[in-house]
Amino acid sequence: MRLLAKFSLIFAVVFGLGLAAAAFLFHDSLQRSAREQVLHEAQIMMETALAMRNYTTEQIRPVMNEISQPYDAKAVDPISRICAREAAARRVFRPQTVPAFAATEIFNYLRKKYPDYFYKEASLNPTNPRNRVVDWEEDILNVFRNRPDLALLDGERMTPLGKSLFLARPMRAAKSCLECHATPGEAPQDMVKLYGPANGFGWRENEIIAAQIVSVPVTLPVQMANRSFRRLLVSLVAVGFVTLVVLDVLLYFTVVRPVSHFARRADEISKGQMEVPELPVKGRDEVSILAASFNRMHRSLAAAMKMLEQQK
Ligand code: HEC
Repeated sequence: MRLLAKFSLIFAVVFGLGLAAAAFLFHDSLQRSAREQVLHEAQIMMETALAMRNYTTEQIRPVMNEISQPYDAKAVDPISRICAREAAARRVFRPQTVPAFAATEIFNYLRKKYPDYFYKEASLNPTNPRNRVVDWEEDILNVFRNRPDLALLDGERMTPLGKSLFLARPMRAAKSCLECHATPGEAPQDMVKLYGPANGFGWRENEIIAAQIVSVPVTLPVQMANRSFRRLLVSLVAVGFVTLVVLDVLLYFTVVRPVSHFARRADEISKGQMEVPELPVKGRDEVSILAASFNRMHRSLAAAMKMLEQQK
């Protein structure tokens, strides 16, 4: 095999092996970072949902109460207290002031633009039927009920719009929740009128009553990771190819061509043509040293031959 072919083959094999190892590592790490990105997105969505819930509880509800409760609920005299209680029972109720409603509705607006994003407070016994668990959500809720220490759960699943990653948190009923979720009698009358007395009641304090679930699409970040991977691979192959061509050209001009020249000259001298010109010596590299040595040998040989002829 020619020197150039041998060199090119070895380069291609070594580069190919290196490329395969790099591709494996890059693919793995790109996929991992795509998943981390999706998870991060889901975490932000979850925090946004919590923020919306907090806003409703901390800011909207007090304002509503102020508007609809003209009597002092903490009043000490009995008459004021009765008035206050009656006022509380007649209290204007609007679902818009309910944290669960606010968070779900806000995400419904978001889904108009991004239909593959999804938020739900999935419950086995929901006030609003749209919040009832479906099969996979029930599995999540059961995991939380069986493992009360679990604070967060994530996983992947297929949806009609592609692969999605979900993040779920258990929701517990606090004491303050029971004013609406214990019995229809205790709940605001307007609420019972609106939602009926059948569902969303009978919750007990500290019971896990729902799972807060966000679901974000995985397809786009994975596609982006795959695209970056392909681009990286193509550029590495191009770099390898250009490097090989440059090295081959260099090898041809610095080694292959001079060595072939030496070989031809050695051939001519061995056939007795002593009058051929000397090899050019350029620079101080190994090939030049070889050329200089060759020229010295040529000269010595010519002198020896001349002496031999004179002796004859
Ligand atoms: C003022 C009454 C009220 C209070 C207080 C209240 N909720 Fe609700 N809750 C509702 C109503 C009404 C709905 C139905 C909202 C809808 O239409 O989506 C609801 C819905 C929910 C849902 C969605 C599942 C379902 O039942 O439809 C969860 C989960 C929930 N509430 C949890 C809580 C928790 C936890 C608390 C206490 C921190 C709480 N709620 C306090 C009235 C209330």
